[in-house]
Amino acid sequence: MYLKKFLVLCVFISFLSSCTSEKQITDNPSIIPIPNHLNINEGKFELNAETTVMYPKEFEITGAYVTDWLGIKPFLKSVDNNQIVFVKEDSISNPEGYALEITEDHITIKSSTDRGAFYAVQSLRQLMPPTLEVEKLQDPIKMPCLIITDEPRFQYRGMHLDVGRHMFSTKFIKKYIDAMAMLKMNTFHWHLTEDQGWRIEIKAYPKLQEIAAYRNETLIGHYSDQPHQFDGERYGGYYTQEEIKDIVAYAQSRHITIIPEIELPGHAQAAISAYPELGCTGEQVPVATKWGVFEHIYCPTDETFNFLENVFDEVIDLFPGEYIHIGGDEAPKINWKSCQKCQELIQTENLKDEHELQNYFITRIEKYLNSKGKQIIGWDEILEGGLAPNATVMSWRGINGAIEAAKQNHNVILTPTSHCYFDYYQSTNENEPLAIGGYLPLEKVYSFNPIPEELNESERQYVLGAQGNIWTEYMPTSSQVEYMAFPRMLAMSEVVWSRSNQKDYLNFVKRLEDFHERLDILDINYANHLYEIEGNIYTENGQTYYALQTLIDDKTIRLALNGSDPKPDSRIYTNPIVIDTSVTIKAAVYIDRDILSSVFTESINYHNAVGKPIHIDKEPHASYSGSGAQGLINGILGSSKRYGDKEWLGFWGEDIEITIDLGEEVDIKTVKTRFHNGKGQWIYAPEKVKLELDNDLLVYDVAPSDDVLIPIIFKTNQRSRYIRLRVPNYGVIPDGKQGAGNKAWTFIDEIIIN
Ligand code: ACM
Ligand code: ZN
Repeated sequence: MYLKKFLVLCVFISFLSSCTSEKQITDNPSIIPIPNHLNINEGKFELNAETTVMYPKEFEITGAYVTDWLGIKPFLKSVDNNQIVFVKEDSISNPEGYALEITEDHITIKSSTDRGAFYAVQSLRQLMPPTLEVEKLQDPIKMPCLIITDEPRFQYRGMHLDVGRHMFSTKFIKKYIDAMAMLKMNTFHWHLTEDQGWRIEIKAYPKLQEIAAYRNETLIGHYSDQPHQFDGERYGGYYTQEEIKDIVAYAQSRHITIIPEIELPGHAQAAISAYPELGCTGEQVPVATKWGVFEHIYCPTDETFNFLENVFDEVIDLFPGEYIHIGGDEAPKINWKSCQKCQELIQTENLKDEHELQNYFITRIEKYLNSKGKQIIGWDEILEGGLAPNATVMSWRGINGAIEAAKQNHNVILTPTSHCYFDYYQSTNENEPLAIGGYLPLEKVYSFNPIPEELNESERQYVLGAQGNIWTEYMPTSSQVEYMAFPRMLAMSEVVWSRSNQKDYLNFVKRLEDFHERLDILDINYANHLYEIEGNIYTENGQTYYALQTLIDDKTIRLALNGSDPKPDSRIYTNPIVIDTSVTIKAAVYIDRDILSSVFTESINYHNAVGKPIHIDKEPHASYSGSGAQGLINGILGSSKRYGDKEWLGFWGEDIEITIDLGEEVDIKTVKTRFHNGKGQWIYAPEKVKLELDNDLLVYDVAPSDDVLIPIIFKTNQRSRYIRLRVPNYGVIPDGKQGAGNKAWTFIDEIIIN
C-alpha cells in the first residue's frame, strides 16, 4: 500500500518535471566525494545558452575544461548577471581547496590555483543533470543557490591500474582518468611492467617491444585450479611513446599526475626474457604465462644498472611528475643466493645479506633518479634491509610498512590489501565474476582510515594519502576493470577527500544510488550490490535467530525457507527467524512484484556448538576479524572462494588456541573445521592440528596439498564438555613458495561439532 502510493507519487513528479522546458536540479545535491560544507540558499540560477564564463589566465586548464564541457563562450569582462566567474583568491591556502557560490546572478568560483578551480567545476558538474555528461547545454538549467567550501583531506588521492597482466586501450585509459578527475582524485599510478608483459615503448631496447611485450599464452581460470590450463593464444602489446605523451597531456588537462611504475628488481621476467643477460642465470626464460611471483629477477650488475638507467632516461622524458615508482615488491632472493656475481657484490659492498643487496639496488637507482630531479616510491618491501634515503613507501601488506616508514620520517601512501585491493571480491554472491580471492565490500573500503592510530601527531604528517589498486590477472576486459573499480573508487574518493567526521555510510549509499544514473550515462559498467540482502545470525537468551536486512530500507524482503527461490507472493520478512534446526533461507528484495536483488541464500547447519561460549587466545587480525570468535560456531560456512568474508577469521603468523564450552558433557562423534589454503595470498593451512577433549588429546597431520580448502575431521566418539583446538601457524614461508620470507596467514572458518 505504502509502496504503491510512493510509485504513484514518483510518476506524478516525473510528469510534472517533463512538462517544464528547463531542467530542475535536485535541491539536495548528491556530490561524491561529499564537500566539507554545503549550504543551500533561497533562489535559483539559470544556466542557459547566453551564460558566459570569465576566468583569469592562471586558470587556463579549468577555463578550457568548462567552455568545452558546456559549450559556452569565454568572455573577457565581468557582466552583471548570467556569468560563471572564476576568481584567483590567494587567501584560500589549500592549493586544491575552493569556494563555489551560486547566486541568482552568478556562479562564482574562488581558488588560489587552477587545481582548486578544477575541483569546484567537478562539484558543479555533479550539480548538473547527468545528461550533460554527454550532451552540450541545450535547455536552460535551474540550479539552486548555494555555497560550497571544500578542500581535500589528503594531498595524494590515487588509483592504480595494472596493464601488465592485461592491457587496455588508450581510449579506456582516458575514460579511467576522466572518472578519477570527476571524483577529485589526482594521481594515476600506472603499473607498466610485469612478468607477463612490458607495456612501455623504450626506444633504446627494441626487444622490449618485440619480445617482452608478448606472452605465448595465458592461464585459464583461477591460479588455484589444478592442473593449470592455458588458452594457447599469444597476448600482448605496448603503449608507444606517442600514445603515452598523449595520455600524459590528457591527464594534465584534468590535473592528474601519472606515476609510472617500472618494477625492479622483481616482477621483471618479461624484461629478462628479452635480455637474458639481465638475470642471474643468463638462461632464456619466457614471458610469464601465469600469475604469481617469479624467481627470475634482475641481477645487480653494471650491465643491469646501465639498462635501467637508459630505461629511466626515456621514462623521465615522458612523465613530468615528481615521482617514479620503482616497485620493489615480491622479489624472491633465491637466484641472488646462488649467483656468484651477487655474492661477490655482497662481499665487496660489505652487505649483510640479500635483503641489504636489495637495499643497495634500490638506493643506487634512487640516487640516479634523484640526480635527475625525481623521487622514488616503492612497495613496502623496500623497508627490508634498510630504506633508501628519500624513498616514499607504499604500504600494501597491511599498514605496518606505513607505520615503520613514517616513524623513520619517510612519506607514506596507504594501499593495504584489506581496504584498497579492488581486485578482491566485492560480494559474497556465488555468481560474481571470477576474481583473485579475498573479500572487500564497498562498506569496508568506505570505512578505511588512512592514518594509522599507531602514529603520533608529528608522524601523521608523513601520510600523503591512499590509493585503490586494480591488479588485472582476472580482468581481461576493460568492462571487467570497471566492474571491479566502481563503485569502490567512489568510496575511496570520499576516504581521501572528505573529512573523517563527515563519513556516514548510509548517506554515501543514498548519494551513490543517485549517482548510478550518471555512471549509466558515462557507460561505466559498475557493480550494483546496493539491494543485496545481508543476513546476521545471533543468539539472545539462549535462543538463536537469523535477521535479514537491506541497505536501502524502503524495499520489501520476501522469504522462502524450504529451499525454493522466493516469488512475488512469498511471505514478507518482518521479524528475525528462530533457528532451532538446520535450514536453508532464500530471500530477495522486491518492489511490488519486481525483483531488484539477486537471490540471497544462506544454509544454516545447526550443530552442537551453535551459539555456545567460545574463546580464542589471540585476536584475529583487525582486517580479517569476520564476525568474531562467535562466527566460528554460528552454523554458517564461509565462502569457499572468499576467505575475507565475515565467516572466516584470519591470523597472521600466530599460533592460536580455540576453546568451546558446550555447557555440559555431551556425546561428540566428530569435530570438523576447514582452513583456507590460498598460497598466492600467503595463506597456508597449518601442518598439524591438535584437539583436546576433557579426557583425550587427538592430533591431526595435514597432508601437503594445493587445494584451496583443507578440511579437517576428528573422529572422536566420546563425551566431553570442553573442546580445545590448537592451531599452529605454518610459520615463515620458505624459499621457492609464494610469499617466501613472509609470515604465513592462517584462515579458519566454522568448527562443526556433531
Ligand atoms: C603488490 O600487490 N604486489 C604490491
Ligand atoms: Zn645475480
